[in-house]
Amino acid sequence: MPKAKINGVELFWEEAGSGDDVLLMLHGFPLDHTMWLDQMAHFSKLGWRVIAPDQRGYGQSSHDPTEDNTMDLLAQDAAALLDYLGVKKAVVMGLSMGGYVTFAFYRQFPEKVRALILANTKAEPDAPVARENRYKLREVVRQQGSTAARDVMLPAMFSPELHQSGGTLLDNLEAIMVRTRPTAIISTLPGLAERRDVVPDLPGIGVPTLVIHGELDQLMPVENARRMAQANPQARFVGVPGAGHMSNLENSAFFNRAVEEFLAGLK
Ligand code: MLT
Repeated sequence: MPKAKINGVELFWEEAGSGDDVLLMLHGFPLDHTMWLDQMAHFSKLGWRVIAPDQRGYGQSSHDPTEDNTMDLLAQDAAALLDYLGVKKAVVMGLSMGGYVTFAFYRQFPEKVRALILANTKAEPDAPVARENRYKLREVVRQQGSTAARDVMLPAMFSPELHQSGGTLLDNLEAIMVRTRPTAIISTLPGLAERRDVVPDLPGIGVPTLVIHGELDQLMPVENARRMAQANPQARFVGVPGAGHMSNLENSAFFNRAVEEFLAGLK
């Protein structure tokens, strides 16, 4: 399994497929690259070289627990990983926190970006109450561990129907959250709380952009994503029916088809 020393930490990533068409996938919080396994299998079969890192502290990647995981730093890791792998340009796809990192990636390394896929994410910063809640959660995670983050996050990750019926998707996501190190969560919460407002950046994004969003997202309303797409003439919006926040998991067939169509337009 590949791992390399990147920006002072051991970064782990998984790869599938080969060639010059590269799709970089950035996971959400508090998750790891395994949330993308279905997409890795799908897009590598379609001729894409798919690269899915565990961002610092998550999954099998290490981190420095005294350092905050800012969105800029996570983006710098992803860019350095592409350099390490000899990749000059990639389509960058991020879901939720992965989307915040995608914005930070584009702002710092526009020359490395072929196109953007913004899945279930938003451009606005945290409102004051949300910011305060992040710091409160950080204290609870310090005392109780990762299950405290699971208790707050998990109930909002899928559609209400899926939460009611339960099942493998819910169990698998819970397993990722629970195995995530508390120190990664503790380092990332300030990075999430203090992330910048990228709404003013939206009109200036100069690459093809797909905004894709579960129509039943309970964390980030779909109307918000629609507005985000409207802010840029190069952006296209697709709503994923029957899916909540983790739209790539809850309706993977629809999600994959929409991303596939978008990617086909780039070749
Ligand atoms: C995520 O899914 O990555 C998180 O919900 C992002 C956030 O808490 O803002």
